[in-house]
Amino acid sequence: MAAIEIKPDVYWIGVNDRTSDLFEGLWPITQEGISYNAYFINDQHKAIIDLTKSFKADEFFGQIDEVADISQLDYIIINHMEPDHTGVVNLIRKIAPRATILGTEKTVQMLKDFFGITEKVQAIKDGQTLSLGKRTLRFFYTPFVHWPETMMTYETSHGILFSCDGFGGYGALRGAIFDDECKDFDFYQREALRYYANIVARFSRNVLSAIDKLKAISISIVAPSHGLIWREQPGRIIELYEQWARYATGQAEAGITLIYGSMYGNTETMMNAVAQGISRTGIPLEIFDAARSHASYILPSLWRKQGVVVGAPTYEVTLFPPVAHVLDIAVHKGVRNKKAAFFGSYGWSGGAQGEFKKIVEPATWEVADSFEFIGAPTKEDLKKGEEFGAAFAERIKSG
Ligand SMILES: Cc1cc2nc3c(=O)[nH]c(=O)nc-3n(C[C@H](O)[C@H](O)[C@H](O)COP(=O)(O)O)c2cc1C
Ligand SMILES: [Fe+2]
Ligand SMILES: [Fe+2]
Repeated sequence: MAAIEIKPDVYWIGVNDRTSDLFEGLWPITQEGISYNAYFINDQHKAIIDLTKSFKADEFFGQIDEVADISQLDYIIINHMEPDHTGVVNLIRKIAPRATILGTEKTVQMLKDFFGITEKVQAIKDGQTLSLGKRTLRFFYTPFVHWPETMMTYETSHGILFSCDGFGGYGALRGAIFDDECKDFDFYQREALRYYANIVARFSRNVLSAIDKLKAISISIVAPSHGLIWREQPGRIIELYEQWARYATGQAEAGITLIYGSMYGNTETMMNAVAQGISRTGIPLEIFDAARSHASYILPSLWRKQGVVVGAPTYEVTLFPPVAHVLDIAVHKGVRNKKAAFFGSYGWSGGAQGEFKKIVEPATWEVADSFEFIGAPTKEDLKKGEEFGAAFAERIKSG
């Protein structure tokens, strides 16, 4: 895509990544893609805010050259050191040798550790400002949104917040870069939540601190480094992030995530009975087969919904491994304060139920109910499963 002027002298530049299968080598983006957004300010002093992954460098540098002579760049502002935003840093320093790199004190250390860069690097303090001529930038330390060195950059005359990972989402840009041009808002909101649950969730406390700190400034455009730029409703993505961050410690939404696994269909048969009981109550329900759904897509549901029902057979004396894997990741990501229920089939002496409790109870999931059955469920077992689902759903409904 060509550079796009978002306000006089302030340009979006960036590239779409539609070829990487995994973000962070872990999270699937084959279908959705992702954008690495950066911004260029063509003032008396020329500054670039964030860079891109080591990928499509020609396109990226070409976008800057459309606007100004890239070799005359004065500042490279690094909000965040993760290589999806710094991959081309050594290359741009060769092309623009005059440029000084600015970042937090931790960024200065990381530039040395990750790229061996020690020259023409300057640490800036929290709250410090930088005049580019007509435009002034102010820097806000926002540690752990997403790494310890992270900061955000604020352009004071237009009120543009360059928020890097904060307020970002998966989803390549479809030509339209602004929220008001976007015709598939649901897609970007869903992908922002998936990004939040995969990448940011563990740092929810830091997200709330950052949002609190940003209350001191007036924001008319939120320009993150992944996904849409929010100029019509800048408050919308901030509110969504705030709401999601609060789920880390507070009550989530009335709804149930049902995660199950099954080798020979016994647990799956019971799962359908449990789902019938849940659905009878009218409460929203999402169902995932843990062996076939990547945790990336299960985490958003777990994050938003108050109730979790897990169905898993015993496998070699323990919980069926694909289910255990999803629960481990969820606990690691900070999924807390859930109401949970468990069911599963076993063949001889069981073990899945005990292991389930061992994983989730330390994460403050309250196991409201659980049962196991031997082999194939009987008619009576299925009736019991349906009632078990309905009773659990009623508990979630009543909060
Ligand atoms: C590979 C394998 C390992 C198993 N390990 C155990 C076990 O350690 N303890 C047990 O009680 N049952 C064990 N079973 C029996 C299953 O838990 C039982 O067949 C159950 O009905 C499977 O449920 P599913 O049809 O939902 O996969 C095992 C079965 C398989 C295929
Ligand atoms: Fe990051
Ligand atoms: Fe990022």
